[in-house]
Amino acid sequence: MLKNYRQFSRIVVCTLLLLGVSISSSRADDDGEERGLPLVVNAKWKEECSGCHIAYPPRFLPERSWRTLMSGLDKHFGSDASLDAATVQEITMFLEKNADQRHRSMGGKPILRISEMRWFKSEHDEVSSRTWRNPKVKSPSNCGACHTQADLGDFSERNVRIPR
Ligand code: HEC
Ligand code: HEC
Repeated sequence: MLKNYRQFSRIVVCTLLLLGVSISSSRADDDGEERGLPLVVNAKWKEECSGCHIAYPPRFLPERSWRTLMSGLDKHFGSDASLDAATVQEITMFLEKNADQRHRSMGGKPILRISEMRWFKSEHDEVSSRTWRNPKVKSPSNCGACHTQADLGDFSERNVRIPR
């Protein structure tokens, strides 16, 4: 009886813990979604990854993608974005920790471009090919051409302006 009671109370505690975790994480999600802001920032990432383009928020690529991308910074989309080993390690840990958990890349080569993720294509299927060719847009990687608050991590619908 006592053993059963212990087991029972352990189950209750576990359930409460799980409940607490899921409530607080869904709160955090709602918050982030509403304001469209990244929940987390790392100073090194902000400093080193925003020189040539916006610092792409970690939540837009799965862990494996970030790890692969960060291990080849000397050959980074035709640029040399090398950093010292300690900085690479710190930024990699930050990116992995806050990576996209929902769209894990399947087997095979990890996708290194956000703009090649399937969700990206479906979110942007309403963007016409004329818009993509607009010299003010240049490339799908140029998030800030349309997402006016992209550098703040805000990609919400209300801050989208398609350049004419
Ligand atoms: C020296 C310039 C430079 C620096 C510094 C740099 N990048 Fe890039 N990055 C580029 C270029 C160029 C591209 C390709 C852009 C294009 O195709 O329009 C790119 C593309 C990317 C993409 C793919 C975007 C997409 O969806 O198409 C990611 C992700 C990325 N960089 C992450 C990072 C991270 C993380 C860092 C910091 C460790 C970083 N970059 C630092 C030059 C840089
Ligand atoms: C040519 C303009 C353009 C570019 C460039 C662009 N986007 Fe978008 N994005 C849009 C439009 C339009 C929508 C759809 C907005 C809506 O839901 O009505 C959208 C939607 C999104 C959404 C979903 C927003 C929501 O609240 O549903 C995300 C996330 C997003 N974009 C991320 C990105 C990222 C990351 C980049 C750069 C790698 C990028 N976009 C580049 C135009 C653009």
